[in-house]
Amino acid sequence: MIPVIIDNDTAQDDCVTILEGLLDPACDLRAITMVAGNVGFERQVENAAMTVAVAGKLGEVPIHLGASKPLTREWEGAEDVHGDGSGGLHMDIPEGLVSEVGAVDALCAAVAAEPGVISIVAIGPLTNIALAVQQDPDFAVNVKSLYVMGGSNNGRGNITPAAEFNFYVDPEAAQIVLDAGFADLRILTWDPVTLRDVTFPRPRYDELCQLGTPLSRFFKHVCDATIDYDESVGVNGSTHPDSATLACLLHPELVLEQARYRVDVECASDLTRGYSVMAWDKFDCAPNATVFERVDGEAYYARLKALLATPTTPSVELF
Ligand code: BDR
Ligand code: CA
Repeated sequence: MIPVIIDNDTAQDDCVTILEGLLDPACDLRAITMVAGNVGFERQVENAAMTVAVAGKLGEVPIHLGASKPLTREWEGAEDVHGDGSGGLHMDIPEGLVSEVGAVDALCAAVAAEPGVISIVAIGPLTNIALAVQQDPDFAVNVKSLYVMGGSNNGRGNITPAAEFNFYVDPEAAQIVLDAGFADLRILTWDPVTLRDVTFPRPRYDELCQLGTPLSRFFKHVCDATIDYDESVGVNGSTHPDSATLACLLHPELVLEQARYRVDVECASDLTRGYSVMAWDKFDCAPNATVFERVDGEAYYARLKALLATPTTPSVELF
């Protein structure tokens, strides 16, 4: 089993990632850390708690609250894309479910306690990870692998023409992380990998929604708003960048092509804020990341379907 911490902004595919982390036998999910991103911070915490509850694992994995805004900028969310991130479901958060230890302290403590053991899957803006780098000079070297969903490989954005959401929201944090010297930093991009390999058109999406399990029903709740939005802007299906990022860590055979790049993020310009420049070997600059260039979408879809078909007894009745 691979020891993992998921750092996330829980809505839509972040929920799917948490399900994967809780239920994939290859994953030893140690903690869930929360960062400002997709939807309001409190709502994200509720979404995370509901996700753990649907898996029947409420209270088994700690949830730590992290940065409620980017390092230097105002928070910008994606409620136009995700709605509230869980299709209007609600749950009262039981007392004690949310840890008193903050996300950055929890990340630093976990990694320092077991140097070279813990992998982090960061699928929201990189604020918490940047703060951990600033708090502990050994943090980056002590993380086994850092898997990031963010940026595009010199390609299209989604929140602006130039920028993918996670890098756009906190570009300074992304650059701190890219400069931090992580031994094994891997990036799954929006363009091309998400758009080409892990976006599932409506008939396949419907199949995932109709498996007759609590997880499948929950999946439909959390993803309906996003597929509607995406189809309205020309993206042909349900997008799964976050959960595919964790899957690539747990099942490396899903990565069909990858290469070393020097990745930097635009922080100065307003026009291209959050744009990820990915320089390949021709440019002779020292690489700082491995960028996935192609993922096995068919094999990933099969995994996702098997995950959502898993019977669970939810800890709380949500629907
Ligand atoms: C990223 O932004 C979020 O909306 C998704 O969860 C994903 O992490 C895609 O740009
Ligand atoms: Ca996310």
